[in-house]
Amino acid sequence: MKVAYTVKDLRDWLAESKKSGGTIGFVPTMGYLHDGHASLFYKAKETADIVVASVFVNPTQFGPNEDFETYPRDFEHDLRIAESCGVDIVFHPDVSEIYSDSDMIQLKVTDRADVLCGKSRPGHFDGVVTVLTRLFHIVQPDYAFFGKKDAQQLAIVQGLIQTLHFPIRLIPCETVREADGLAKSSRNVRLSVEERKEAVHLYQSLTLGRHLIEKGERDAERIRQAVMAHLEEHLKLGRIDYVEVLSYPQLKVIESINDTVIIALAVFYANARLIDNVIIEIPS
Ligand code: PAJ
Repeated sequence: MKVAYTVKDLRDWLAESKKSGGTIGFVPTMGYLHDGHASLFYKAKETADIVVASVFVNPTQFGPNEDFETYPRDFEHDLRIAESCGVDIVFHPDVSEIYSDSDMIQLKVTDRADVLCGKSRPGHFDGVVTVLTRLFHIVQPDYAFFGKKDAQQLAIVQGLIQTLHFPIRLIPCETVREADGLAKSSRNVRLSVEERKEAVHLYQSLTLGRHLIEKGERDAERIRQAVMAHLEEHLKLGRIDYVEVLSYPQLKVIESINDTVIIALAVFYANARLIDNVIIEIPS
């Protein structure tokens, strides 16, 4: 496995691989890698000839009072995970390699970003598309792999690829969970023992919502209320940020469920804000 710290090194190595006609699979990450990231690496390995993973904590997607400085980092550990999953090249640039003093272009997301995490984290998705556009231009992948764990990000990346005509095939990957259902996340390490126990109710409340839909409930607000009620009953330490039932991937408010929907939630704990969701297809 190679490690590129500069755009130049990465481009030189990729040019070599492209000469032999290999396809490139790209997995962008912010590091502190876990089984969720690993599942994306495995999928990339299955799909493409060369797998590139970026490890870059992107400052522009963090708000002024968010955790950019304290976001968990352990690059040596990340290298071990990436290597064990068969990643060919890890791209680990410095902030100054991606954002220079002479920067003069900013991107703004104009749809799908005013709800859910976009509402709670203004500007977050502008930062995500800004860094991904740069990374896509640098890596020029054939395939890009994103987790459904960040379903709003996935919906916006789909829009980014379409809008800017990137010749990239987007591959959505299932959410990887702990044995008790909690979605794996780099931020889970920040939960106290008590918070970690309680956090099992995030997925349990989503599962309850899914069951209601499966049993035939089609009123979006009633499902939202049921998920909310489960959380209100069981969360003593966590504070609910939002629970929403929206169309997917459009992320529009709906009254009645006739097509694919997402039930999404976010909960604040003392040192971590957790998100989770389920996407449910309605058989026609
Ligand atoms: P990060 O949070 O490191 O996530 C990188 C990728 O791993 C994302 O596509 C995310 O959805 C996926 N992922 C995280 N946890 C997962 C889980 N439990 N199961 C499946 N996939 C999971 O998302 C980002 O970084 C950044 O916003 C980034 C896209 C890199 C732009 O900076």
